[in-house]
Amino acid sequence: MLWKTAPLLALVGQVLVLENGLLRRPPMGWLAWERFRCNIDCEEDPENCISERLFMEMADRLAQDGWRDLGYTYLNIDDCWIGGRDAKGHLMPSPKRFPNGIAFLADYAHSLGLQLGIYEDLGNFTCMGFPGTTLDKVVQDAQTFAEWKVDMLKLDGCYSTPEERAKGYPMMAAALNATGRPIAFSCSWPAYEGGLPPKVNYSQLAEICNLWRNYDDIQDSWSSVLSILDWFVDHQDILQPVAGPGHWNDPDMLLIGNFGLSFEQARAQMALWTVLAAPLFISTDLRTISAQNMDILQNPLMIKINQDPLGIQGRRILKEKSLIEVFLRPLDNNAYALVFFSRRTDMPYRFHCSLSQLNFTSSILYEAQDVYTGGVISGLRALIPIRTPASGFLLTLKSRFGIFL
Ligand SMILES: *[C@@H]1O[C@H](CO)[C@@H](O)[C@H](O)[C@H]1NC(C)=O
Ligand SMILES: *[C@@H]1O[C@H](CO)[C@@H](O)[C@H](O)[C@H]1NC(C)=O
Ligand SMILES: *[C@@H]1O[C@H](CO)[C@@H](O)[C@H](O)[C@H]1NC(C)=O
Ligand SMILES: *[C@@H]1O[C@H](CO)[C@@H](O)[C@H](O)[C@H]1NC(C)=O
Repeated sequence: MLWKTAPLLALVGQVLVLENGLLRRPPMGWLAWERFRCNIDCEEDPENCISERLFMEMADRLAQDGWRDLGYTYLNIDDCWIGGRDAKGHLMPSPKRFPNGIAFLADYAHSLGLQLGIYEDLGNFTCMGFPGTTLDKVVQDAQTFAEWKVDMLKLDGCYSTPEERAKGYPMMAAALNATGRPIAFSCSWPAYEGGLPPKVNYSQLAEICNLWRNYDDIQDSWSSVLSILDWFVDHQDILQPVAGPGHWNDPDMLLIGNFGLSFEQARAQMALWTVLAAPLFISTDLRTISAQNMDILQNPLMIKINQDPLGIQGRRILKEKSLIEVFLRPLDNNAYALVFFSRRTDMPYRFHCSLSQLNFTSSILYEAQDVYTGGVISGLRALIPIRTPASGFLLTLKSRFGIFL
């Protein structure tokens, strides 16, 4: 639900942040991991193995099927691309699966108006056992990525100690900066330290990383979405203030288009990630995605809300006995995005909620717009009647326009 009007103003503390100028809005794109994992069997499964072909085919789809033009511009490699190191210690991709090399793939992405993201791991090995970036390799690997014209680095944290991570993540941030190439930096560091202070220093993270994974990997199930959501909500007082333009919390990839979510659950994940100002990394097969799932991911009003220039992460503001929860994200131009989220497992539920319950106490008229149907409810003064679908929905509310469902 998107509400627009005067009242609420979010107070954001002044924080020092990474000054590479990147990711002023949450990044959007495609990331291989959740859907394609570490499938390296190109003999038996050439269409789906982690290979140049897979990334080129996804790049084509991003460029041709409307994704890029809506903002989904990152084409991101995850684990299992590495073949080894050469005699001088330079990283090399698997020669069989990436015969033309990563620079070729970066050029291909750039030629289509896309950006290429790559993956490494600060430690002895990547999580799947490929050569990692040990502390003595940080500078060399940053230079290699810059030479290849990579645009984003996701740095995982398997096979390292907390002390190595405390040295290595800031060291990589400095090494990326020293290359002179703007490379967005995605840090998995906090996820390896439990995601919370005092072990995690979010002020420091905002100075060195553009986004960070706080919590567990997402898996292809609704229970996984809920466990991530619960953790983010339980700790929203810590997490909400640390996000902002250039530095984002990352609850992990969108599952939409895969096998684990119903239609309503897919819509709910999209709405929740949007109101949380989360990165929108699709991880599905864009060659075969259904029109229905494309509609969810390509909803222009949804994307506009996710990409709102204020970059304020939303919060859960109401938790009702009826198992309806309301999330609110303040937006630019005195608008608000509201998600009415249902945890009920019986049927769609008729939920009534007064504007004052949501702290919209001004006497002006509001207009709400359902983000999924586009339907507008005008002249709201007191009560919002909402029939929540099975898993809830998103409304935008504006002074004269807007509820989101
Ligand atoms: C990394 O490898 C070194 C050298 O083999 C070893 O001493 C160290 O314990 C390893 N670190 C981790 C976290 O596995
Ligand atoms: C490196 O850091 C400086 C100072 O924060 C910043 O002005 C510059 O844009 C950064 N360069 C890159 C390539 O990230
Ligand atoms: C967290 O990091 C900030 C910025 O680097 C630093 O000023 C502050 O002292 C750190 N806080 C703690 C508790 O270590
Ligand atoms: C509304 O404002 C009051 C007073 O500031 C606060 O205690 C309450 O938590 C707020 N409710 C919501 C839903 O934000």
